[in-house]
Amino acid sequence: MNKKYRKAIIAGNWKMNMLSSGVKPFIEELKANMPKSKTCDVVLCTPAVMVANMVKAGKDAKVIAGAQDVSKYEKGAYTGEVSAAQLADIGAKYCIVGHSERRQYHGEDDMLINAKAKALLAAGINPIICVGESLEQREMDLTMEHIAYQVKAALSGIDATALRHCVIAYEPIWAIGTGKTATAAQAQEVCEGIRAVIRKIYGARPARAVSILYGGSMNAKNAFELLGQPDIDGGLIGGASLKPVDFSEIVKATAQDAKE
Ligand code: 13P
Repeated sequence: MNKKYRKAIIAGNWKMNMLSSGVKPFIEELKANMPKSKTCDVVLCTPAVMVANMVKAGKDAKVIAGAQDVSKYEKGAYTGEVSAAQLADIGAKYCIVGHSERRQYHGEDDMLINAKAKALLAAGINPIICVGESLEQREMDLTMEHIAYQVKAALSGIDATALRHCVIAYEPIWAIGTGKTATAAQAQEVCEGIRAVIRKIYGARPARAVSILYGGSMNAKNAFELLGQPDIDGGLIGGASLKPVDFSEIVKATAQDAKE
């Protein structure tokens, strides 16, 4: 992390877990374990139906509510979809796009992810854009080419002003929900590479200011080392974000000196 130039963010991704009735008790337990002074933004991305509950319960614990997906369309006859304006209306400040589970199970491609990121920006929501390689791609030494393509495609047509509202999350697919974390060196290498891709498109200053998160089996034990890397500005946490004590330990791991 380098808190001098960019915001540290710990974001939970609840995926399709929890119930609305569980939001308030979760936040109460989280609040009891969270440090008093803030060293990062704490975000919880819930299923869309719980965002309003999170906005309400999270207010006093300074937890920011986020969503996990959005429609690329503004409004209209798109049964089952939720628009960016609708998410903004209930108080979502962040929204994940391009998670590998959506790419895999819902056939989302980079063009769609780009359209969704733009829809969010137009509604004033910060997109958390996920990128990551498969194990096969890593073994074939294609990691950085693949990630560079994903980052470029997701940011296509987004100007430097809008980039300030974007967050990138590096989530190697092989590390998601597997208990197999990327080593701090592996994660740092890719996050540094992502910043270099952004630098090439936007220049040094915007690249220095963008928060890049790591996700994939981040937990209370490995968070400190991962977050100690200069280009890892936070985490996108699945499993451990469902446990208030574990999640608060990850938040605490952001209280370390900035590195460059
Ligand atoms: P896990 O932390 O459960 O590996 O999930 C990571 C993730 O997919 C967050 O978006």
